[in-house]
Amino acid sequence: MTRIILIGYMGSGKTTLGKVLSKELNLPFFDLDWYIENRFCRTVSQLFAERGENGFRQIEREMLHEVAEFENVIIAAGGGTPCFFDNIQYMNSKAQTVYLKASPEVLFRHLQSGRAKRPLLADMNDEEMKAFIVKSLEKRAPFYEQATYIYNTDLLENRKQIQHAIIQIRNLLNL
Ligand code: S3P
Repeated sequence: MTRIILIGYMGSGKTTLGKVLSKELNLPFFDLDWYIENRFCRTVSQLFAERGENGFRQIEREMLHEVAEFENVIIAAGGGTPCFFDNIQYMNSKAQTVYLKASPEVLFRHLQSGRAKRPLLADMNDEEMKAFIVKSLEKRAPFYEQATYIYNTDLLENRKQIQHAIIQIRNLLNL
C-alpha cells in the first residue's frame, strides 16, 4: 500500500509535484485544502474569516484524519498542517512523508502571484511578506524536518526540472 504525504511551506511545490507524481504512479491525488473546501463548500479564506485561524486548524486536523485513511494515494498537506497539534507524528504514523524544502527567496517568488488566496499573506506587501516567510519558516522548520524524507525544491521552474524532481523523489521513496 502506498500513501505519501507531501509537506512544506506555501509555495514549495506540494501541489505541482503531487499532481505529476500522482499521474506517474497512477494514484489519486488529494490536496488537503481542496478537500476541506469541497467538504465545507467554503474557500480556505472564507473559513479563516468565519472561524479564525484556530477554527480552521481544527477543521484541518479533522480532515487530515479523513484523507490519511485513504489507501494508495498521494496527499498534499497545507503549509501549516504539520505544525499544529500532533499532526506531524500522526502523518508519520500513517504515511511516508516528504518535506519539500525551499529557500525563503524561492518561496517569496512563488508566492507573489498566489498570495491573494492565502489568508495568512493576502494583506501583506512585498516587504512584509518577505519578513513573514523568513520568520515563520524558522518556526516551522523543526516540524517539517520530522518528515521521513527531505527533498530540496529550489529548482522547480520548468517541466524539465519538475520531471527531474519526480525521478529523484521516486528514487528516494523506492517507487
Ligand atoms: C497555510 C497554507 C495553505 C492553507 C492555508 C494556511 C499555512 O496551504 O492551508 O492558507 O498556514 O501555511 P498551501 O500550503 O497549500 O498554500
